[in-house]
Formats: sequence, C-alpha cells, structure tokens
Amino acid sequence: MRRVTLTQFLIEQQRKGLMGADLRLLMEVVARAVKAIAVNVSKGALADVLGEAGSDNVQGEAQKKLDVIANDILIQANEWGGHLAAMASEEVEEIRPIPSDYPRGGFLLLFDPLDGSSNIDVNISVGTIFSVLKCPEGNAVPTEADFMQPGTSQVAAGYSVYGPATQLVLTVGDGVHGFTLDREMGSFIYTHPNMTIPEDTKEYAINASNQRYWEPPVQRYISELQAGKEGPRERDFNMRWVASMVADVHRILTRGGVFMYPMDSKMQAQGGKLRLMYEANPMAMIVEAAGGAATTGRERILSIQPTKLHQRVPVVLGSKNEVERVTRYHNEG
Ligand code: AHG
Ligand code: MN
Ligand code: MN
Repeated sequence: MRRVTLTQFLIEQQRKGLMGADLRLLMEVVARAVKAIAVNVSKGALADVLGEAGSDNVQGEAQKKLDVIANDILIQANEWGGHLAAMASEEVEEIRPIPSDYPRGGFLLLFDPLDGSSNIDVNISVGTIFSVLKCPEGNAVPTEADFMQPGTSQVAAGYSVYGPATQLVLTVGDGVHGFTLDREMGSFIYTHPNMTIPEDTKEYAINASNQRYWEPPVQRYISELQAGKEGPRERDFNMRWVASMVADVHRILTRGGVFMYPMDSKMQAQGGKLRLMYEANPMAMIVEAAGGAATTGRERILSIQPTKLHQRVPVVLGSKNEVERVTRYHNEG
C-alpha cells in the first residue's frame, strides 16, 4: 500500500485548489511543533516535564510544566516562517503579533497548546487544539479586534492527541483527515481519510459530578439517557469522560457520541467552561466538517460573534441527532 505522508497530502490539497502555499506551510509548521510536543509528552518523568510550572495563566489556572513547554514550542516554531500576522494562546493573556524582525504573513493562529492538563501527571491522553483565521488587511500591527471573527471564518482547524499513538486531525473545510505519527520515520502518515461522525449514537460524555448545577434541559436529557431501555429512549447508553476534550472528541470522530460541557449555575458568570476561540470553534469546525453538529445548547457555536479572546461558551457537540435533541430541549423550555 502506498503510504501518503502529511506533506504529500497537503501538496495534493494545494493542487486541488483547496489551500494556498502559505496555508500549507502553516500546517507543516504546526505539525512539526506537534511532533516536538509529542516527544516531550512521551518522555514524562524521564525529562522532568511532569508537575506544576509554579505560575498561573490568564484564566487563573495553575500552569503545568507541559502547558508552558507546549506553548513555547508552538510560538517558536511559528513566529519566524512568514506565514502568520499574529498568534493567540490559552496560556498568554494578550495576542502576540509576529515580531518586526520577521516577515509578517496573512494568517492568525490560535491554540490551546496542551489540552487536558489535569491528565498529564497520570499518563492519560492529552492534546493540542488549533484554529486558523485570516488577518483582516489594513493594520500594520494586528490587534485583538482582528481576532474577533466567528468560527465560520476559520480557514482551517485541527488537533493532535498524544495517546498510545500520536495523531493529527485537520480540516480546511473539505472533510476531516487523520494522520498517525510514525515515530521512527518522524513523519505523519495519512491513516484516517474522510473521518465522519455517525448521526446516531449510544455513547455520551459529560462530567456528571456537576449534575446538581445543570439547567433543566440538560437534567432532562441525561436522565432520559440514564433511564436506558426502560426510559423514553428505549435503549441503553454508555458513558465515557476522559477530561481531555481532544480525547473525547477523537473518540466521537472515530465511533460517534455526544460530548457536553453545558452551561451550569456555578459557571454562569464566566459563560461556560470551555474557551470559544481555541477549543470550541476549532472542534466545532471539525465536527461539522465530519457531518456532526456543535451548539451551545441554544445556538450554533460557529455563528457566535466573539467579544473577548479568552471568552468561554457551553459546548454540546457530536452525533447530529443527539446534538439536535439537546438543542431542542433547551429551546423548548
Ligand atoms: P485545559 O487542560 O486546556 O485547561 O482544558 C481542559 C478542559 C477540557 O479538555 C476537558 O474536557 C475539561 O476541561 C475537563 O474539565 P473537568 O475537569 O471539569 O471535567
Ligand atoms: Mn483545553
Ligand atoms: Mn490547555
């Protein structure tokens, strides 16, 4: 069988007119950074990368050493190539325009360098999530306002999952494509063409410890799933919760399911748990491109007009019929 590398895949996408040379370079650079992050993640205690960094990020969350390492790798890999105008990261409060000693390109890159940080020290899958926007023309130096574009404006999105294998999943709008890292060769191989999410599922993912804070539509939906064969759904459902969004979403892209981090009473003031611009939007683009759906419970995630870089939103995504049902429950009540 002919092994197609990520590089070949991207060149073929460019030939089909699905991406330009600069977006292709951006994808290559992100993939290179992902490989470097994978090396660090997989060394674990041997490289002294576990544990706390001793600092807090903009969200007031304690940073792990790997949060900081992954962030530094992504910034250093991307700032000199000439493909970006600016970057934004979960771990950095302000946007980061490309320094003036490097050429400035036309794209904005946003990322969650290490998703699922609470799983680092216990050797459970973590990942990286990224979103690509076009920088509006006109400003000499990009500002935060340039990033305030709805998810529908994303030109590409992707994530990597550092699990038993390292995988990279990406979309430029034309289907969702998965690659597996061949560690000996050091290259990503195209192993999962055209990933799709089945419309129906018997599997759901939610942090059930928050149940007492959920709104009535979520209480209703989950209790119907839990009632199984004897309940209104007349079948049994299974539950999984990795607590790494990348791993939960990757499972859904592989075999279907619904993932929810809904609004709840303790997160009302902050708007939800997950971050719109570098968690919800890229995952929503991928999920929709794979035939699934993604809403806040009330509206399509990709249609939200962002107002803040680190804005949070409720998230319901995955198999279309389940997401539509949850959204209907919210909008009926
Ligand atoms: P991060 O590690 O980037 O802060 O993101 C963690 C997120 C997401 O990956 C996961 O689904 C969720 O937080 C888990 O939250 P709980 O610990 O509340 O279950
Ligand atoms: Mn995250
Ligand atoms: Mn993170």
